[in-house]
Amino acid sequence: MPQATFMKQNAFSLRRFAGLLLFTVLAFTSLGFSAQAEPDLELGKKLYKQNCASCHKLDKKLVGPALAGVSQRRSEQWLIQWIRNNAALRASGDAEANAIFAEYGGSVMTNFPSLSDDDIRSIIAYTDAGDAPAAGAVPAAGAAASAAPVEDNSLVTLIILASFLTLFVVLLLRIRNTLKQVNGEQSTNLRQDLDGFTKLLIRNKRFMTFATVVLVLWFLQALYSYLLGIGVEQNYQPHQPIAFSHKVHAGQNKVDCNYCHSSARHSKHSGIPSANVCMNCHMYIDGSEITDSITGQLKYGGERSPEIEKIYEAIGWDAEKRTYTEGYEEKPIKWIRIHNLPDLAYFNHAQHVTAGGVECQTCHGPVETMDEVYQYSELTMGWCINCHRETEVKTESNGYYAEMHDKLKAKYQGEKITVDKIGGLECGKCHY
Ligand code: HEC
Ligand code: HEC
Ligand code: HEC
Ligand code: HEC
Ligand code: HEC
Ligand code: HEC
Repeated sequence: MPQATFMKQNAFSLRRFAGLLLFTVLAFTSLGFSAQAEPDLELGKKLYKQNCASCHKLDKKLVGPALAGVSQRRSEQWLIQWIRNNAALRASGDAEANAIFAEYGGSVMTNFPSLSDDDIRSIIAYTDAGDAPAAGAVPAAGAAASAAPVEDNSLVTLIILASFLTLFVVLLLRIRNTLKQVNGEQSTNLRQDLDGFTKLLIRNKRFMTFATVVLVLWFLQALYSYLLGIGVEQNYQPHQPIAFSHKVHAGQNKVDCNYCHSSARHSKHSGIPSANVCMNCHMYIDGSEITDSITGQLKYGGERSPEIEKIYEAIGWDAEKRTYTEGYEEKPIKWIRIHNLPDLAYFNHAQHVTAGGVECQTCHGPVETMDEVYQYSELTMGWCINCHRETEVKTESNGYYAEMHDKLKAKYQGEKITVDKIGGLECGKCHY
């Protein structure tokens, strides 16, 4: 076989091989964008500590059963349904769900509508794996743990993989060059090789079609999620400047919502309490006596809680001298607002809570179980209107509107008087 032809074929197959490699890299990368479904142990652990640890232990019964190895007793689908909404699963007549509910004497487990399938898979992965002792010091539960950013390991893996493959391509190009030299052809430097390689890829129709399709798909997916997200912030759950927990306050310590959100009953806004309200209790509770719900030990080893310190810092309370610092200018705590209707819409809390008798939880979900508040409802126009179509006006014991309600009763003789019948669908009622 003539030398030249052999070289040509050889070089050609090398190019082909290198091209194939790049295909693979790209395919992997695009997969990485769409399929981040690997259960994430760190995330699972964090979510478990935040949401489940108050009632479950891995190895022992607490309020609920021990969760280690639960994936062996139950199917993944069942677990997802149970954890997201165990009440609904029980109501659907599911035998396993009703059996375990009965076994635990009808103790009700919280629903977690905001956990995604992947979140739940991560929690289950954590209950299967447990605490690996090598994972270093476990930070104190709560504040520190929830503030730590969750690392995205899959991206790191992809980058490493891509760099290895690139190195491999470079290596192949060098081998090809050496082969050329052996065959007495003119050798080229790496730069020329890479240029040649890129040109080859650009000229390769199949490759370009593939690359274009990947790019277009990726763009469409990004656009789609962006459009879906516009205006709808359901499940929005920012980290707040102080690790204030509704679960601790409204749940465990049963502080009434109105103690802190007092204006909800009589004004448009519900409002966020000022640091003064916090000080009613935190002048005495500085965190040194707080015990960790999991280990049962003093959470800060008898020191003040750094989170409660932030309240003192905001209001100028000198915890050593137990006085307010004179002439201190209060720095309001910058709570991040979660619920926010656009300016064009008018919503009034008092009208719903006091006149309508609607519970906070109907719109805000089980706030008393949330360590961090998230937006439970869509807050879209459709959401307001649906409820107005379905909800009956409280006509009993509502002196405020007695006269109007009597007229309505006469008009709708025996029919349900829903909010739409009192004008709840009129544009002008909700729009300025
Ligand atoms: C308020 C207490 C409470 C919280 C919080 C809670 N659970 Fe439960 N869980 C229970 C109880 C009680 C049961 C037993 C069934 C029943 O009585 O409803 C249970 C049962 C379960 C079961 C079924 C166990 C089995 O053996 O089949 C799973 C799985 C489970 N919980 C997972 C979770 C996960 C995951 C979380 C956190 C996201 C969580 N639970 C948070 C109280 C709780
Ligand atoms: C001890 C005081 C306190 C109590 C009791 C309390 N809250 Fe709050 N609430 C706060 C503070 C502080 C914030 C702002 C920080 C945050 O979002 O967690 C807040 C935020 C909220 C938000 C989100 C506001 C936004 O930014 O859109 C809602 C909704 C809410 N509370 C509802 C409730 C409900 C419902 C209850 C009763 C079950 C309740 N709260 C009990 C202090 C309290
Ligand atoms: C009615 C009393 C009361 C009010 C009002 C109150 N708290 Fe608390 N707070 C408590 C109790 C009780 C605990 C839990 C102590 C324990 O776990 O032993 C607590 C715990 C905390 C913790 C957890 C500390 C830690 O490091 O674990 C933070 C943070 C906190 N409160 C912030 C606030 C803020 C901010 C406000 C005002 C918006 C506020 N609290 C209002 C009673 C109150
Ligand atoms: C009918 C549904 C509904 C009910 C019931 C309801 N809320 Fe709201 N809440 C909303 C909407 C909608 C917003 C957003 C308002 C805005 O952006 O103007 C909101 C906002 C809030 C905020 C943020 C601050 C503000 O005033 O905008 C807090 C805090 C809050 N609600 C607490 C409560 C509490 C506490 C209760 C019970 C006493 C309650 N809500 C009952 C729908 C409701
Ligand atoms: C959970 C059910 C529910 C949701 C969700 C709800 N509403 Fe209402 N709304 C009511 C009830 C009940 C009344 C009647 C109150 C009364 O008796 O005056 C009412 C009354 C009103 C009224 C007064 C109507 C009239 O003719 O007097 C306005 C305005 C209003 N709602 C605006 C809104 C807006 C804006 C939203 C969405 C951001 C919303 N509502 C979401 C239940 C709801
Ligand atoms: C019960 C309250 C309510 C009534 C009645 C109502 N709207 Fe709305 N509307 C809203 C709320 C809340 C929003 C904001 C929704 C969002 O941000 O997604 C909104 C948003 C809108 C928008 C902005 C586009 C959008 O989807 O964000 C338009 C336009 C609008 N409404 C028109 C109307 C017209 C016309 C009527 C009468 C037929 C009407 N609305 C009746 C509550 C209401």
